[in-house]
Amino acid sequence: MNIVVVANYDSMSAEVAKLLYAQITRKPTSVLGLATGSTPLGVYKLLVEYHARGTDFSRLTTFNLDEYVGLAPDHPQSYNYYMKENLFSKVNLKPENTHVPNGLAPDLEAECQRYEELIKKAGGIDLQILGIGTNGHIGFNEPGTDFGAITHVVDLAESTIRDNSRFFASIDEVPTRAISMGIKTIMQAKEIILMASGGSKADAVYAAVHGPVTPDVPASVLQLHPSVTLVVDQAAASKL
Ligand code: PGA
Repeated sequence: MNIVVVANYDSMSAEVAKLLYAQITRKPTSVLGLATGSTPLGVYKLLVEYHARGTDFSRLTTFNLDEYVGLAPDHPQSYNYYMKENLFSKVNLKPENTHVPNGLAPDLEAECQRYEELIKKAGGIDLQILGIGTNGHIGFNEPGTDFGAITHVVDLAESTIRDNSRFFASIDEVPTRAISMGIKTIMQAKEIILMASGGSKADAVYAAVHGPVTPDVPASVLQLHPSVTLVVDQAAASKL
């Protein structure tokens, strides 16, 4: 694992945006795996700036990691909405080339299968961006998730519901289930960038990098991937 420690959130965002820019320039038809949450917001802002200065996104394909079950794409806390607001509507990605699971699909199992097949059809993910939960989750693969799982429906851990309640009016409004790429789906990406910022992530980052490889800390599986770059700020790296 290549570990890059930077000063703060802004330098983490700049470093990851630079790596994405390099990927897009090297291969304009790249398939990118994208994440949501607070961590990648700064990266998306910088990508929008790259686009304003001429970077072309029109030949890229994107797949998001996950989506809440039960939230419509226009629900302000859905990840479909988040991606539209923060990136898709601000760069020239083609709508038909951007993919986020449909949390309202009547048959969730069929939706998971469809999503997994779309990724395969696109040729697999070239570069996957990941955040990490305070409990070590990646995507919504909570502790205990089978490393062999592909895109699937997950029950969110209590700690995740608590962490994400900051985005909702009350904790009761946080969905309890989600569709998430599985660990196997994530591990099939050719390259992975794991980002983390802030002291609340320090224990999870330590366990992911130095702990045993165990489903109890889903991010620890990344120790087995041949091409992972961890970009962390000093607070998140404080226990390394
Ligand atoms: P955050 O979430 O970026 O909002 O901290 C990260 C995650 O849960 O993967």
